[in-house]
Amino acid sequence: MMTPAAEASDLSHERKLMADFVSVAGRRAPLYARFAAGLVDQPDVLAILAQAPRGSRLPVTLFAAIHSLLLADPSEPLTAWYPNLTDTPRGDDPLPTLVEFCRCHRSELTGLVRTRVPQTNEIGRSAVLVLALAGIAAKVGTLSQIDIGASAGLNLLTDRYRYRWGKHSVGVGEIELACRLTGALPPALPPTELPSIVQRVGLDRDPVDITDPDQVRWLEACVWPDQADRFVRLRAALDEALVVRPELVAGDAVADLAAMVSRLDAGHPVITTSWVLNYLPVPQQSAFWKQLNEIGQRQDVSWVAYEAPELTSGLAWPTSLGQQSLSALRVVRWRNGARDDQVLGLGHPHGYWLEWVEGSALTTIATQHL
Ligand SMILES: C[S@@+](CC[C@H](N)C(=O)[O-])C[C@H]1O[C@@H](n2cnc3c(N)ncnc32)[C@H](O)[C@@H]1O
Repeated sequence: MMTPAAEASDLSHERKLMADFVSVAGRRAPLYARFAAGLVDQPDVLAILAQAPRGSRLPVTLFAAIHSLLLADPSEPLTAWYPNLTDTPRGDDPLPTLVEFCRCHRSELTGLVRTRVPQTNEIGRSAVLVLALAGIAAKVGTLSQIDIGASAGLNLLTDRYRYRWGKHSVGVGEIELACRLTGALPPALPPTELPSIVQRVGLDRDPVDITDPDQVRWLEACVWPDQADRFVRLRAALDEALVVRPELVAGDAVADLAAMVSRLDAGHPVITTSWVLNYLPVPQQSAFWKQLNEIGQRQDVSWVAYEAPELTSGLAWPTSLGQQSLSALRVVRWRNGARDDQVLGLGHPHGYWLEWVEGSALTTIATQHL
């Protein structure tokens, strides 16, 4: 028997969201693909998702809410299907247990989907960002880093991870990040040492407080359980962050950028952004780019971006990259009022691989005098 909420609702939108998500999850997330395929015909569960605000009414919001409750109580029978929570995940149909779990936890799940938005902090991107940071440090020496859209601040710890680029390894950290590099690398890459970062601070509209178990659980819950490696390294990086305690400031990428840069008083200032500027409306992306250029006219500064050109048309990408669904590693250097702007590589959004494209006719953006 359906709940009154499910009976009263037109759930066609939520049904379509689930149906569409099956192919999105695909091979990358077989558990969530099975969940989504089964939930298409489960109005009681779709009715929970329907409680989410429009902007976050996504299958991943409901799945993160379910995951979050399992992380809080791993003794739940549903845990047995989660590859990140059990050594030998069950392979049979999870749907009856999933639906029963949602029925028993309807009010908690509803509370979560009403109030939470999907959140990530992907440290795999550090394996890409650090390539650009090393190139800048080789020319200017020590760096200070401001990460915009820092989330929990984990990509402020680039010098605390160990990197493996093919056979080449650098760093002594416990957490290894592997990134396959292809294309014609310049002789200085991969780097033989990590850049020295003497100051680091993160800015985020909604920073994750790593000392708050509830916020940490939500961040962990937003990792897809099939991607157990990401889950494990996220937990390890959160432990590392508890030691380093990078400073995180609540604020806006555009409105607070200049004030953040002016806080730094040691090393060459580098602004990093990874998968954050796509959250800004296009006029705000343009405003961010304008702000950067204004700062660059006043002082030497660098920007290292790992962003998706097709989602950030306000950032003045070369036209050839406008339709790129890959992430692009871009470095912009402002030195004595002149701007040098290069796309260095195109890669996987989570930093598993990067093709070096620096200097190709398609991606070079001419040096400009401002
Ligand atoms: C997808 S997460 C990426 C986090 C991190 N940069 C990474 O690569 O893992 C996007 C982050 O941007 C933040 N964000 C979105 N809009 C923002 C804004 N206008 N100003 C500052 N942060 C923002 C969100 O709160 C979130 O933490």
